[in-house]
Amino acid sequence: ASTLGAQAAQSGRYFGAAVAAGKLGDTTYTGILDREFNSVTPENEMKWDATERTRNSFTFGSADQIVNRATTRGQRLRGHTLVWHSQLPSWVSSITDANTLRGVMNNHITTVANRYKGRIHSWDVVNEAFADGGSGQHRPSVFQNLLGDGFIEQAFRTARSADPAAKLCYNDYNIENWNDAKTQGVYRMVRDFKARGVPIDCVGLQAHFGAGGPPSNFQTTLSSFAALGVDVQITELDIAQAPASAFTNTVRACMNVARCTGITVWGIRDSDSWRSGENPLLFDRNGNKKAAYQAALTAMGGS
Ligand code: G3I
Repeated sequence: ASTLGAQAAQSGRYFGAAVAAGKLGDTTYTGILDREFNSVTPENEMKWDATERTRNSFTFGSADQIVNRATTRGQRLRGHTLVWHSQLPSWVSSITDANTLRGVMNNHITTVANRYKGRIHSWDVVNEAFADGGSGQHRPSVFQNLLGDGFIEQAFRTARSADPAAKLCYNDYNIENWNDAKTQGVYRMVRDFKARGVPIDCVGLQAHFGAGGPPSNFQTTLSSFAALGVDVQITELDIAQAPASAFTNTVRACMNVARCTGITVWGIRDSDSWRSGENPLLFDRNGNKKAAYQAALTAMGGS
């Protein structure tokens, strides 16, 4: 096929993009979105600070806009993200009582996941809970500090109850190199969850890469997680300076792992990127395809 989503679909996969509601009036943006991508992740619109800015007062306008538009176009949806220490309103991060926080977290997960029940292909249930560096442990956060390691399991169990149809993912960055302690920490958690029947269906590897692209053992990481009995998804791909070879290597690694079910780039044009100065995406600021685009398409067998 001659487009990313259509070519990905030929192997039962998706090729998606992070989408900003504020850009849906830009016809260059939406023209590429609808031509190229068969999956959509709201870039910010489903985060806690967008959906529950004040306690038990939910606002879904911009998330609904993205969900409704994608649904009418037959594009899959990734929900991002139910529990994250960042973009968290201060009324949550300032909670000091564990039982209060547990109730607040469960209510947030249930309310948001219920709203889109049956329409979300994959949820990033918990995002970035592991610490950087060599500990392999969880990072400090209000959730970790008050509820301990078990908050992640609690979040996954609550999400499963709220939307049994959605694949439940743990999502993180810097877990692409098999030798990193952070990767091994996430691996041990997923292995433990699967052994105890904790509902988890997928690991999201954000894949925010430098100019060198993925580590040489990236495919080993993907296949090692998959061997635990979960899908792997490349969830936020961007690569500094977007070298064609780095996109080739990333896409090939996914194509070589049966349970790598899809790839999402974290934005459409370089100018849409959170790291726009590094020109890390597949389309330039004018919406023209870059060499990286052709590399990604070719790596999936398209042309
Ligand atoms: O919506 C407000 C707007 O009202 C205000 O005028 C403006 C200026 O203050 O800020 C706007 O919010 C910004 C938001 O993006 C929406 O544009 C926030 O300041 C800004 O911090 C936020 O950045 C997002 C970032 O997550 C926040 O952590 C990026 O767009 C988004 O691409 C980025 O995505 C994250 C993933 O969710 C998780 N993985 C890492 C990835 C990159 O950081």
